[in-house]
Amino acid sequence: MAEETLGKEKPDIASMIRVNQAGEYGAAQIYKGQLAVMGDDAPDSSAIHHMAEQEQRHLDAFDRMIVERNVRPTILQPFWKVAGYALGAGTAIMGPRAAMACTAAVETEIDLHYQEQMEQLESEDEPELLSKIAEFREEELEHKQTAIESGAEETPGYPVLSAAIRLGCKVAIGLSKRI
Ligand SMILES: [Fe+2]
Ligand SMILES: [Fe+2]
Repeated sequence: MAEETLGKEKPDIASMIRVNQAGEYGAAQIYKGQLAVMGDDAPDSSAIHHMAEQEQRHLDAFDRMIVERNVRPTILQPFWKVAGYALGAGTAIMGPRAAMACTAAVETEIDLHYQEQMEQLESEDEPELLSKIAEFREEELEHKQTAIESGAEETPGYPVLSAAIRLGCKVAIGLSKRI
């Protein structure tokens, strides 16, 4: 149970690793779905490949922490597999700008999520976890930048699409912290 130190709630490290592993897994699935629709020869394919490779590194790191620290993975994994892939494929079907709008929205939420964790870890003795989160957050911000430079915001209906995806991410993050 949460223990109080100087009025500040002690972060639940297992929950942090659980949600991060789930999120990176979902992110990898999104790019997989996008590439399945776009193929390897579309103008954005090499940028997406690069992002997908980084997501795989992020996922590998949290997969390893899950094993090392005996953290129970989210039971929602099979659901995130389908949902992430469908989100990636669905936005890619709408067009390359929509695929990039998806990336910009997802990375906006992941950035906020990682920032929050970095604040929570400030007073903890978790150098490895903190440095991984900081490193990955930088790469998520690069993904967001790539997406915006690739025309994410020019996709028709961008505000609605972006808001819907961000809401979905928030719900996914909230659920994967706990279950
Ligand atoms: Fe990532
Ligand atoms: Fe990312």
